Amino acid sequence: MKPPIPFNRPYTDDREVQAAAAVLRSGVLRGDGYASKRVQELLRQDTGARFAFFTTSCTHALEIAILTLDIKPGDEVIMPSFTFVSTANAVVLQGGVPVFADILPGTLNLDMEDVERKISARTKAIIPVHYDGVSVDMDSLINISAKYGIKIIEDAAQAGDAYYKNQHLGTLGDIGCLSFHDTKNITCGEGGAFLTNDEEIARKAEIIREKGTNRSAFLRGEVDKYTWINRGSSYIQSDILAGILEAQWAKREEIRKLREKIWMEYHRSLESFEHARWLSRPEIPDFAQSNYHTYFITTRREEDRDPLLDALKEAGILATFHYVPLHSSPFGRSICKTSELPQTDKLSNSLIRLPIYPGLHETHPDFAKRVVTVLRTFFTQVKK
Ligand SMILES: Cc1ncc(COP(=O)(O)O)c(C=O)c1O
Repeated sequence: MKPPIPFNRPYTDDREVQAAAAVLRSGVLRGDGYASKRVQELLRQDTGARFAFFTTSCTHALEIAILTLDIKPGDEVIMPSFTFVSTANAVVLQGGVPVFADILPGTLNLDMEDVERKISARTKAIIPVHYDGVSVDMDSLINISAKYGIKIIEDAAQAGDAYYKNQHLGTLGDIGCLSFHDTKNITCGEGGAFLTNDEEIARKAEIIREKGTNRSAFLRGEVDKYTWINRGSSYIQSDILAGILEAQWAKREEIRKLREKIWMEYHRSLESFEHARWLSRPEIPDFAQSNYHTYFITTRREEDRDPLLDALKEAGILATFHYVPLHSSPFGRSICKTSELPQTDKLSNSLIRLPIYPGLHETHPDFAKRVVTVLRTFFTQVKK
């Protein structure tokens, strides 16, 4: 049996080791030290956001966003059901109500027609998720948000180094949230960022992130004591991880290019499978510059997905499904407004993500051939 192909591997080397060691030697290990300041400056410069805060996770950046926009009990927030729990949890923790909109085949991103249908007098915000580092249709979303006066929080967890018409994702709405979890392209293990161009939002977020205090203003010498100003929590990340992130962020183009090569190899190899109507391949709309976070396929028949995942696993290819849609989860069913989400149901039941990580060509040069062999055997047998 050939060595198994893992689904994902963080792309770290001596650069991250040196960066962490440098922070440890500096004696400043807490958050918002020298390394955090440098990484926040890098995030500002490279994403184009006016304000960037390094946070403990994207989950926490989303929580800060909901607190900053003062989402109250009963307020509705539109989002896809096909997302990670954190998108909805941030809303639910403040008593808000997630309202799910359907997604589109090809990108698995929000369907703007359904978003507009879901708007009510209680809608306070929309959270688009840029699935797989491919942008949602931001011009349409921004038009909807302007028409109804609704805020946009971009869940750009998977979208570090991904763009909409050359603008970094997370900087087009009112707030953007990035993830640096070790499943993401650019990682420091656990971590996130809160981005905004709005000074008032930034001021509020800074306080919420610092346990509800104005300690950041105090450290800048703007007030002579710091005190409790608002609700908040401990959302500041250690400088050790900031150092690691600084090293990773510098490698982002290298990481993107290595992933793109793998993505393209799958895409070419699976073209004939799409023509045979066994599966669909992902789409990247013209307005999006992808970071090639994952390569996914959707099987034409939902019933093929699980046995195909088993066949891949048996061949040592650690492919995975993704999100159990929140509207069909036990907690989601109990608290969320229910509605028909036919594409979400169909696509999530037929989705398979294939292994992709920088270095896959070196560790398993025959990865695409192995995947194609399993898929061809599976589909030719299923067809009989
Ligand atoms: C769409 C989405 N939002 C939020 C998160 C949470 O990110 P973190 O692990 O940094 O909290 C994830 C994590 O995978 C995600 O996929």
